[in-house]
Order: sequence, then C-alpha cells, then structure tokens
Amino acid sequence: MISDSVLDFFKSHNYLFEEQFLGAFHSEMEAGLKGDDSSLAMLPTYIGVDKSIPLHRPVVVIDAGGTNLRVCKVTFDDSGEGQIDSFSKEPMPGTRGELSSSQFFEAIACKVNPILEEDSRIETLGFCFSYPAEILPNRDGRLLFWTKEVRAPQVVGQCLGEQLLKKLDRPDLRVTVLNDTVATLLAGKAQGDVDRCSGYAGFILGTGMNTAVVESNDQISKVSLGDVGGEQVVNMESGNFSRLTQSDFDKKLHQKTGDPDAYILEKMVSGAYLGPLFKEVLTSAVDDGLFGSDACEKLSAMKDIRAVDLNSVLSHPFRENPFVELNEEDLDVIVCLGEALVERAAYLSAVQLAAALCRRPSSSSRLHPICVNVDGSTIHKMKGYYVAFESQLKSLLKDKGVHVMLVHKEHSPILGSAIAALTN
Ligand code: BGC
Repeated sequence: MISDSVLDFFKSHNYLFEEQFLGAFHSEMEAGLKGDDSSLAMLPTYIGVDKSIPLHRPVVVIDAGGTNLRVCKVTFDDSGEGQIDSFSKEPMPGTRGELSSSQFFEAIACKVNPILEEDSRIETLGFCFSYPAEILPNRDGRLLFWTKEVRAPQVVGQCLGEQLLKKLDRPDLRVTVLNDTVATLLAGKAQGDVDRCSGYAGFILGTGMNTAVVESNDQISKVSLGDVGGEQVVNMESGNFSRLTQSDFDKKLHQKTGDPDAYILEKMVSGAYLGPLFKEVLTSAVDDGLFGSDACEKLSAMKDIRAVDLNSVLSHPFRENPFVELNEEDLDVIVCLGEALVERAAYLSAVQLAAALCRRPSSSSRLHPICVNVDGSTIHKMKGYYVAFESQLKSLLKDKGVHVMLVHKEHSPILGSAIAALTN
C-alpha cells in the first residue's frame, strides 16, 4: 500500500503506474516489420522453429551477455537434454574499460580455442549475442550499436562471426549469430512441444530487456526471405520502445547514459538501470522533504546504488543493505519507493509482452497456450518483480483471449544457441 505522501510525490514527478500503450506498440511493430521508421527494429533472424535437434553432435556456444561472457560445449543426449561441458564464465569484454575490436574478439577467441582443440568433432558454433545485431541470410550478425553501456566502439558495424573466425584456429567453423531472446524462445520450445503449445515467445529481463516472437514471413515485408518455412523468429529489440511518458527521474537518468534518447523502455525496467533510477528517485525524495534530516544526509552521501542494493533492502530491510542505519520511519519510505519502482517496471514489461503476443488474432487456447520462456536475472531475483509481472500479463491477456504458459528453463541462452547452430 503506497502512502499518500509517496503517491503525491510520484504524481508531481509524472511517474505513472498504469500507462496504456498496446495500440502504439502495435503500430511500432508493424512499421518495424515493414522497414518504416520505428523504435521497434523487428529484426529477422532467418531461424525457424520447426526442426528437430540432431543428437550427439557437439557444438561450441558463446553467450555474450550484458554482464558475463560464457563459453562452453553443448551436446544433446538420447533424451534430448543438452549437456553443458568445458564451461567458462567471466566479465563481458568491454564492460570493464574500452576495448579495440581486435582485443574484443581476441578475448572471446581465447576461451573458444581450447574447446576446439579438445574436440575435433565440432563443426558449428552458436554465438548468442545480447545486443542489437542485423542478422544476415548466412546467419552472421552485424552489430548495429551497443546497449547496456558496453565499450568496444570499433565493433559497431562489424560482422561478428567473420571477425571471430579470424581469431580462431578453425576458420572453417559454421557460425550462427542470434539474439539471446531468440535463443530463449528456442530453448523453451522443447518444453512447449511436450505440452502441445500453439506458439512461442522468448522474453528476457536481466541487465537489459527484450522480446522475441514468431512472425509469419509474409508479415516481414522489409526483407526478401529465403526458404525458412512459413514463419521465423523475430528479435523485436523491444527495449527501444519510445512512445512512453518519462518521469522526471527517467529523464535525469537517461541524460547520464551514453545514448540518452535510445532504449527508453529498457532504461525504465531492466537490471542495469533500476539501481541508478532508484538513486534518482531518492535524490528527488530528499529534495522534496520525504525523509528526516539524518536520512537526508546519509542518502545524499551515497554514491552509486545498484539493482542488488534495491533487491537487498526490499528483501531484508533490517540487515545487509546500504540503508540499514536509517530509522524505521525513513526505511519504510525507502521500501515504499523501491516497491513502486519494481511495480512500474513489472507493469511496463508485462504490457510490452502482452502487446507483442496479441498483435494478431491468436490461435492459443486453454489447452494449447503460447509458451513464453522467461529468462534473466532481474526478473527472477528482484523481490516482487516476477509475481507482479505474471499477474499483470495474465490480466492484460485475459481480455484479449490469449492464453500463455510461462516457463523458465535453466541456461536458456546457451541451450537455444546450440539448437540454432545445429538446426539452421
Ligand atoms: C539488447 C537486446 C537483448 C536484451 C536482453 C538489450 O539491451 O539490446 O538485444 O536481447 O538487452 O539481454
């Protein structure tokens, strides 16, 4: 329950909880599919969803995520389960200081080469890339621009597979570049098939946010398509949706990012930005007199706030969080503001997904729902996020007659990339 003073505070800063944008989202989707000016890129992937997975064929997977780089080998066993071996994980290159293109690809290649050396059967590589990339018909991908504040500017415009192969000991390898939401959709499909689902989507809410859906090829009029069946997965880049009301806090935060006018929605909902956004909210709350003088002093002295700090104060307000020294009354305001931030983020995430799922008449039913694989650290770890997201999504879709089954498959970006590399 939000107190009146906190509600007044939010209203005075144009912070909305229930903004409706289904219609605007649909028109941006349509413009994106046609290639007209749109904040939704709607990127074709040339990846279909109807192929069966070859068993016992090892594949290397690179998962270049918002925070971490993971590299491993995946093999699907007799039961169709993907076995993950030779796993390594480290910070994503370009998140700890600027890198040249050569350094960027070298950092990845030095993790891949030992796996190639140890298993000569490997012929393909799945490159899961959690950034906007134009996918080419040969399944290579050209980086359009960086999101999530990664710094490796020379890589923009380059073909990722081509550059990586130059650094590998096996230049004959077939590389499939795909977005993490696309991989997530594919990983969820195994579950959806068992449960006789009627459609598929992938949704990620981690450091960044994005959705992948399946579109029929006749809707994607901006490219001439090869033979990939009647439909293919589309990477929406929905974090860039811009037809939204920004609160004063959003505007202040966006001005401090590398690309203030881009990825407006992502900056309102995802893990990379929730901490800094909370900082903006608290700074304004201090200015507007929501706290006692002791709290004002302590809060003004705080430098950075991260999503984990927000999660810790929401999960256990009296221990192991940066706000423990505040008195109970001020702590209550902190938690109230934090919950409101998560509530709006969950709501906006649910609206964009609902919009993506109900743009066209759905063939889903109670028995044959759309399988949505929901992945990402923020949605599953941030206190209150998933519960609020799920209830909003279901209530929005109920009115539209769309039925969904939400699943969460471990290691989705890795497993889905292995599937894409083996089947496409
Ligand atoms: C990227 C998307 C990605 C999403 C989730 C966004 O910042 O632009 O390509 O799918 O984060 O990782």
